[in-house]
Parts: sequence; structure tokens; C-alpha cells
Amino acid sequence: NHHQQRQSGSAPEPNPLGSQSLSTRKELYERDFPVYKQPVEVGSFSLDGERRFFNDARQMRYYEEPERSPNFDLRDGYKDRFIKRDDSVKEKLDHILRWIIANRTKCSSSATTASSRALDADFVTWRGHLTKLLTTPYETREGWLLAATMFRGTLYISEVETEASRRDRENRTARHEEMMYWGYKFEQYTCADEVHSLPDPSGVVNTNEAFCTVVQTRLADHRLLFSGEVDCRDKDPNAPAAPACYVELKTSAEICTPKQRSNFHRFKLLKWWAQSFLPGVPRVIAGFRDHEGVVVSLETFHISKISHLIKNEFNCWKPTVCMNFCCDFLSFAKHVVTEDNPSVVYLFTWEPHRDVTYSIHRDSPYSFLPRWYIEEMTS
Ligand code: A3P
Ligand code: MG
Ligand code: MG
Repeated sequence: NHHQQRQSGSAPEPNPLGSQSLSTRKELYERDFPVYKQPVEVGSFSLDGERRFFNDARQMRYYEEPERSPNFDLRDGYKDRFIKRDDSVKEKLDHILRWIIANRTKCSSSATTASSRALDADFVTWRGHLTKLLTTPYETREGWLLAATMFRGTLYISEVETEASRRDRENRTARHEEMMYWGYKFEQYTCADEVHSLPDPSGVVNTNEAFCTVVQTRLADHRLLFSGEVDCRDKDPNAPAAPACYVELKTSAEICTPKQRSNFHRFKLLKWWAQSFLPGVPRVIAGFRDHEGVVVSLETFHISKISHLIKNEFNCWKPTVCMNFCCDFLSFAKHVVTEDNPSVVYLFTWEPHRDVTYSIHRDSPYSFLPRWYIEEMTS
């Protein structure tokens, strides 16, 4: 009942306009860095311990610099003080759409509300989906599926879980399950709920809770509106305005050998850079932990310095390749997605060592714009 079209095969290079596929070979994207406007925060929202949406910053947390060399036990509370978000529930773009409806005046087209374009953006998506696009030219393990729908002139992009990713999610080892908790436990050791309070490591870690920033920016000629989860902010009231006051927290295995350092630069810093560069979060504070999950040292990484840090690495990633690929993917999507219809999904598919291809699905289970959103935006 739904029309499908798939074109595959190797694309002639460089990607000619009108091509049915998009190459992900990094050599094709080694051009000048594209224009990427300083991201501007246009709002924020919170999700509470039951994953309920609030159009405010109630879940914002404040970074507290540890007094002395840390000794955080990340395993503490895993068994008895942990409420885990159900990651089989797919929320798609729903929280962002709720934010848009609650803040329509902030994002509606300046020209006129009567125009066919309802939003002042070419693309609406999650930051995490853009992070996946940025890292694609260097990814050798995990493919992705991105569903795109055009509605009133704006392209909405929402991820679809791949079969492989679902299998991995359903077959995690007990060790892996526990290690996924460690990152959140580190946040609890270093974040306070109020400006003048202290972190409370005796509390419950609930991964339903989130504070999300909504930013507007432009990549070349693509106007973007996206949201991303933010771990905490600088508690200094004189810190610069958001997103410059935000801090991303990470944990990573202690680095003991040159090989480990090289892998950290080549793989982990790529992910960290892509995630924070997009929303304009200036720094990552990393907790390095041993194999028993004890954080033994902290280190700050300034996003603007990461590209220099990795320059001596052989065969390393380049920020310009990431941004140019993302830019070209968005151009490709604009070219492919022609029908303005919330029940039509263009499903972009990528597997490592392949080109990006797509298929078209009408009134299928891939449709992701909810009726309440369509009705609100058409009235
Ligand atoms: P670490 O990255 O410090 O291990 P984020 O860093 O993006 O704020 O995410 C917080 C934590 O969520 C991560 O902390 C990790 O524990 C967990 N997490 C995030 N993305 C994940 C993924 N794709 N798979 C498994 N765990 C993930
Ligand atoms: Mg986070
Ligand atoms: Mg983090």
C-alpha cells in the first residue's frame, strides 16, 4: 500500500545534483569550512522524572567543581537508587514539537503567518541526529536511518532505529548495562539542582530527567532549528549567556598507553566535538575512570581547541569533513524531499562503506508528525 523507491549503487563522484545517492567518502568533503553561524538559544524545556514535558528550565543543573582530586564510585546506587528511562519507547520529535507549539511566536516566519512556511527554519531535528551526520564519513560500525517529512516548507528529520541497533539494545550484557549508568552517576557527583546547593550523591539517578536547549543557527544556506540535552551550566551568575555557559560532562576510561591516547583522540574526541560544537557548548569536562568505575581524574576540553589537539594524530578526523558532509546531506535531502505532505516519509538509509540512499513511504508506520501538531500548525 505504500509506494517504495530505492536507488543504490556507487555514486559517481563528486555527488552531482540530481543523484539518487550521496557518497560518504571523506576525501570528497575536504573543502573550506562551511559557514556555521554562532548558534543562538531560542528557548529550552525540561522533562521530569516521568518524562513529562515542561516549557521551562526546571531541570537545569549547576556544575560544582570538586574540592580535591576526585574519587567518585560510579557503581554506587546502580542496584538500589536507579530509575532507568525505557529506551524502547520512541519519542521521535514529539518534545521539540511541543516546544514549537508553546513558543510559536519565537519561531514563526517573520514574513507572515499566512505564508505556506509556518516556521523560520528549513530543518527541525534533534542535535543527536545531526551529530550522527557529522561523524558519518568516519563511522565504520553503525549505520543509520533518518526519516524526513516536509510540512509547510520545513523539513522534519527523525531517526528510526535500525534492526542492528535494536538487536544491540535488546542484547546488552550486564556489564554494558551497568556502564551506561556510570555516565549519569558522574553527573550526579558533579551537578547541583540549585545555584547555591551542592551535589547529592546519596539521591536517586533518574535518567528520564532532562534539560534541553533549543537553538537556531545556519549551516551554509540551511536554516536549522534543533534541540539537544544539556548536562549543566556554569554556576557563576556572570558566566556568558547560553549556550556559552553550558558544560557537557563525559566519562572515559583512564588513558595509560600511547595507543589508548591515540584511540581517544581519533574516536572519542570526534564524538565529543561533534555533539558540543553543534549547539555551541564551549567545553567538555571529562572524568577519567578505572575499570572498577572509580573516577580518578578530571580534565577540561575546550571544543575550540580539540582540532589542534588532534592534529598530530595520523589519519585523524577533520572538522571540515564533518561539517561539509552534513551540509551536503541537507542539500541532498532538500533535493529529494519534494512533496509537502505530513503522511509522506523519505527514509534515508546509510550503512558503513556504502552511499546514502533513500526510499519513499506513503501513509506508512514511518510517518512521525503527530496529528495534534499538524492540526495546531494548520489552524
Ligand atoms: P558518558 O558519555 O559519560 O559515558 P551524554 O554524555 O550525552 O550527556 O550522555 C550521558 C550518559 O548517557 C553517557 O555518559 C552514557 O552513560 C549514556 N549514554 C549516552 N549515549 C549513549 C549510547 N548511545 N549508548 C549507551 N549509553 C549512552
Ligand atoms: Mg547529557
Ligand atoms: Mg554528558
